[in-house]
Amino acid sequence: MKARKIKDKIYWMGFVDWDRRLFDSLIPLPDGTSYNAYLIEGSEKTVLIDSVETELFDELLIQLENVSKLDYVVSLHAEQDHSGSIPYVLSRYPDAKLITSSKAKGMLMDLLGIPEQSFITVSDGETLSLGDKTLEFIYTPWVHWPETMVAYLKEDKILFSCDFFGSHIATTDLYVTDEARVYEAAKRYYAEIMMPFRKVIKKNLEKLASYDITIIAPSHGPLYPRPSFIIDAHKDWIDGPPKNLVVLPYISMHNSTKKMVDFFISALVQKGVRVEQFNLAVTDIGKLAIALVDAGTIVIGTPTVLAGPHPNVVYGAFLANALRPKAQFLSIIGSYGWGGKTVEILAGMIPNLKVEVIEPVLCKGRPADADFQALDTLAETIAAKHKEQGFK
Ligand code: FEO
Repeated sequence: MKARKIKDKIYWMGFVDWDRRLFDSLIPLPDGTSYNAYLIEGSEKTVLIDSVETELFDELLIQLENVSKLDYVVSLHAEQDHSGSIPYVLSRYPDAKLITSSKAKGMLMDLLGIPEQSFITVSDGETLSLGDKTLEFIYTPWVHWPETMVAYLKEDKILFSCDFFGSHIATTDLYVTDEARVYEAAKRYYAEIMMPFRKVIKKNLEKLASYDITIIAPSHGPLYPRPSFIIDAHKDWIDGPPKNLVVLPYISMHNSTKKMVDFFISALVQKGVRVEQFNLAVTDIGKLAIALVDAGTIVIGTPTVLAGPHPNVVYGAFLANALRPKAQFLSIIGSYGWGGKTVEILAGMIPNLKVEVIEPVLCKGRPADADFQALDTLAETIAAKHKEQGFK
């Protein structure tokens, strides 16, 4: 795709990756993604913000065809989907200097072998004059690496935010046209990589509150012509109270755990609690991550296999522990054949979750009346706790 004009002398460049389905060999990308770079031509200096994946440099090269001089390349984030082509850009423009945060410099030297003399490091709040345009660099660490920063183009009130506010969507829309679709994709992105750092990201949001922003230009997905939409969404995800929602990842091998799950969900619904269930044998793990953003309670459903939880449940529990959602309660339900240490093993896997553990319900073999009664009591307890906490 050719470069696209955002405003006079400001252009989108990059690559729309319609076919990519996995990021970091981990994160599902059901809607593809894009790697956005931006060119700003000031009256005196020209700057490229970020780049594209290493193997996509040729695409960027075509877009840069008519750019005879580049004074600066800015790397807002050292991860290779944005920095991978920077060594090639610097080869094409040997006089260009690479502007980074102080932390990013070492990371880019390690990751990409960029020589030290290429760098200019900027401190938090430092500005760079391009002549008639001015870039201000604002440190916004842990979105989702420690070195991340954003850049604010003062005269045009554009925030170049890199991963911050990004969404993995391949689209020909330069700007967001369908906010509901982008909301889901951005929430998925937040849930998968930023949720564990939400306390720091909250401070970053507070830091940006004093800036007059008319456009947010992220490095994945379309630009935001109405920044309050995505800023308010992040505020809710980060700092809003958990919702009246039970998230229930589970596996069943011979249908006993499934019977428990079905009964339990019905009991919760009757008591006014919403539920999102995820069969870990088939689920898109990103959907589970999205649900965890809002969960008031997590209930894990697992059979006992090889004396412990099912391996797929181990994966789900590891993920939940790593993502550190704001859920306040947790329980476990499931079936076993003759014994095992399912509860102890799972409980030991979630030290990061600051939750109150509610008495698990495990049954031997197929669930009987007493087990269904115990599940009903568990549902009642959760409903009462959600009410007590005022979860909506
Ligand atoms: Fe889009 Fe953290 O890279």
